[in-house]
Amino acid sequence: MQTVLVINSKGGSGKTTIASNLASLFAASHLNTVLMDFDPQGSSLHWNSVRDQHGLAQIKVIDASQVKSGMTRTFQLSVPPTTDRVVIDAPAGMCQKMLSEMLAKADVIVVPVVPSPIDIHATSEFIYELKLMMNGCRRKPVAMGVVANRVRRDRSLYQPMQRFLGELQVPFITMLTDSDRYIQAVEHGMGIHEMSPQSVRSELRQWLPLVKWLASHNTVSVQSPVMARPLGAFAQR
Ligand SMILES: Nc1ncnc2c1ncn2[C@@H]1O[C@H](COP(=O)(O)OP(=O)(O)OP(=O)(O)O)[C@@H](O)[C@H]1O
Ligand SMILES: [Mg+2]
Repeated sequence: MQTVLVINSKGGSGKTTIASNLASLFAASHLNTVLMDFDPQGSSLHWNSVRDQHGLAQIKVIDASQVKSGMTRTFQLSVPPTTDRVVIDAPAGMCQKMLSEMLAKADVIVVPVVPSPIDIHATSEFIYELKLMMNGCRRKPVAMGVVANRVRRDRSLYQPMQRFLGELQVPFITMLTDSDRYIQAVEHGMGIHEMSPQSVRSELRQWLPLVKWLASHNTVSVQSPVMARPLGAFAQR
């Protein structure tokens, strides 16, 4: 099982968009997928309820935003034993306790960032703090990478951040452009990987480095028919 945490303390950076697209990609690749929504806004929960109406590959969604009375937190956040992938959609500006809880679960961390100097600065600080937190606790190593999201023409904005990430040895994985396709996908509870490939050709190309990076941090390989197609790198349980 691989747990992917999509996180940034900054609001509106694309956490839910990337988390839901990842979950739908995994599910469409026949992997048993759980989406854990730690955000009280419940955007991932809502996305999945729309999804259910369209008969798409099933994703189990867990509302992790509040502690439920009458059950232990461990039980509340438990996933079925057959789960292949867990995707965590983090809220903006979470408390320390929730951050520690999410970090303890993560095998891989994806940090989306939008191209505004304010967001880039705040995200650099956040990544630095995450690194310190992870170095401070003795647990399995966690891979962390950054995804530039809603990128428009001026890609030079990310250069100072790329230099900074280089110093921290955090890879800059890919750039996802600002595209209406993501909004159209949400409307139908879909991910872009479930849309007609011709209509999302450039978006799929931009996702490929992230697909490969996640697969490279997963250990056991399993063959899957879906993986004969470009997204096949995900067919690892
Ligand atoms: N690559 C993209 N192209 C176009 N629109 C996008 C893209 N990524 C995200 N969006 C849109 O930007 C808005 C914010 O994205 P999203 O909700 O994923 O961010 P978030 O980090 O989860 O926000 P929050 O911190 O409020 O949870 C949404 O309306 C979403 O549809
Ligand atoms: Mg969100």
